[in-house]
Order: sequence, then structure tokens, then C-alpha cells
Amino acid sequence: MLVMTIESSCDETSVALIKDGRQILANAVASQIPIHRRYGGVVPELASRNHIRDIHQVLNEALDDAGLTLDAVEGFGVTCGPGLVGSLLVGIETARALAFALNKPVVGLNHLEGHLTAVLLEGDTVKNPEFPYLGLIVSGGHTDLYIVRGLGNYELLGRTRDDAAGEAFDKVARMLGQPYPGGVAIDRLAKDGRPDAIEFPRPMWTRKNFDFSFSGLKTAVAQHIDAHGIPEGQQLNDLCASFQEAVVDVLLFKALNACEAHKLKRLVLSGGVACNSRLRQRAQEACQAEGLELFVAPPSLCTDNAAMLGPIAEHYLQLEGDSEFVGHTIRAQSS
Ligand code: KG4
Ligand code: ZN
Repeated sequence: MLVMTIESSCDETSVALIKDGRQILANAVASQIPIHRRYGGVVPELASRNHIRDIHQVLNEALDDAGLTLDAVEGFGVTCGPGLVGSLLVGIETARALAFALNKPVVGLNHLEGHLTAVLLEGDTVKNPEFPYLGLIVSGGHTDLYIVRGLGNYELLGRTRDDAAGEAFDKVARMLGQPYPGGVAIDRLAKDGRPDAIEFPRPMWTRKNFDFSFSGLKTAVAQHIDAHGIPEGQQLNDLCASFQEAVVDVLLFKALNACEAHKLKRLVLSGGVACNSRLRQRAQEACQAEGLELFVAPPSLCTDNAAMLGPIAEHYLQLEGDSEFVGHTIRAQSS
């Protein structure tokens, strides 16, 4: 099936064309990062307005890249949540209007489910996992651990009780006067820093559950800045590396424990924070040491994009049924 997927849940406007839920024919993304950077984070009203401005151009770009016209599209998949309501509406109504006009089915999709299964897409650098696998979603809004038994078949093991990992990166970066999105800046600065320079706490460092918490770590960084001032030069690099190491330690501790507890042999990292070079490196080393297989999509499929919706769009369009995980399903079918 040839499916058009649309993602507009936050500050990326994206349209993809996916064949049989696996093959990416196009994945056009318009990022609003430069617009939101001057405010230090995403401004919802501006995000919605820019989605409205960009959506048609991105849609045409995707069709051009794939060398297709709208007539070729056999079904639509669109992110229905979670996300910013005004932003989501732009993608949802675009998909529903197209589906209505072309008399094709449209399915509403869960953004997290997209992140979790992006690694099932084909790509030069993507190795696809078999089921079951442990999926760690680390994004700006979520830090969740799921057992993925198949498409539409998930078990939530744990999640953050306060800030998400990406949110912690963004807030710490802001305290340090670094640009949004903070994860990118911290990753870059940490490359020249010592990860053991400052002893930051490892929150929820326990085998008792698979939940996370990052607000205490964020406070520890704030207290360090209060006591020592905003660092510069090598000290800035050291602080970034030490903070990043604490986040990576906790993420991997929980993920590896979950693999062991549930006898899972495959670990999948997804979401924007899965772009983090230290997390990728340490995950690779840890999985090798533990005899686990690691799967991480290329960075362009980890941050928000429409292609990541391909596998689930195909699945739900074929199934024509609801999924509890989706929870935001629309079935706008004009017949
Ligand atoms: O998945 P995503 O694009 O959007 C959400 O669904 O939230 O994730 C965005 C998050 C931001 O918090 C950003 O700082 C973080 O991903 N991020 C990174 C890196 N690149 C993006 N965090 C750490 N290291 C990176 N290299
Ligand atoms: Zn996301």
C-alpha cells in the first residue's frame, strides 16, 4: 500500500510517502527550530501558525521527491496525539480533507507509537529488529520503556514521573545560556568535557521499578550554577559531560535491567535524545557486554518526522480496527 503520513505535533511539519509500511519514498521535514530558538523553547501559538504556513509546501516537496502525484496515495496516516492541540489540528485536518477529497481511508496515529516503531523502516543504515524488543522512547516530552511484541502490541513498563530526558537537556542548556534545542548543544559541548568532573545524582537508581525522574538532576545542576556561576570554557564542557553522563547512566541502567527482567534480547532507542552521541556509544558498549542487540534509527528518523509513522499507518490501515495504544484514533472514511 502507498501511504501518505503527516506529522505536526510539535515544531516540525513533515509529510512522508511510504510503501508497504517499510520503504521511505520521501520524508520532507520543515523544522521551526530557528523560529522558536529566540524564545528558548517551543511557543505553541507560533508553532500552529507556521504549520499552517508550511504544510502545503512540505506536502508538495514530499510528492516531488517521490516523483508521485496525490492520485497514487492509497491511504493516509496522521499524528493525532500526544502533542500541541493547535499544531496537531493542522496535520489532522489536512489529512482528513485529502482523504475526503480522494475518497481514501485515513487513520489517526499515536506519536509515541511512531517513535517506538521507526526502526522497522528500511534504510541504508537501519538494521530492523525482530519482535519482541525493549523500546526506550527518549524525547522532549517522554521517557518511556515499552515491551514491543508486535505492531499495536505494547506493554508499558515505566516512564518519567516528572521531566522527560529531552526536557532536562533543554532546561539545563537554557540555564547555561545555550540555544534550543538544548540536547544538541550539550552533546556538542560534552565531547570536550570530562564525564566524571562533577558528581551529579543518578535519580531513581533502583531495580525496584522502571520509572525515571529528571527534575532532581536538573535542580542539582541549578544548585551547582548558583554556587559556582555559569561556567565557561573547559568548565562548561565538564558540566555538560557530567550532566549528560548522569542521564545516560540512568537510561541505560533502567533499559538493561528491563531487558534482563523480561528476558529481552533486543534494545531499541528512539526519540530525539536517541541522537545523543554519548548515549549511542555507551548503549553500543553495554549491549555488546550484555549480549544484547542494539537498534537505533539514523538521527533523521529519531527526531520528529512523518516517515516514522509508516509502519503503524500501514498496520492500522490494513487492520481497519482501533488500538488501545493509539487512543486518538480517527476513522474519517468517506465512501
Ligand atoms: O522526538 P523529538 O524530536 O520531539 C519530541 O517528540 O519531543 O525530541 C526532541 C528532543 C529535544 O528535547 C532535544 O533537545 C533532544 O530531543 N535532542 C537531543 C539531541 N538531539 C535532540 N538530546 C540529546 N542529545 C542530542 N544530540
Ligand atoms: Zn517526538
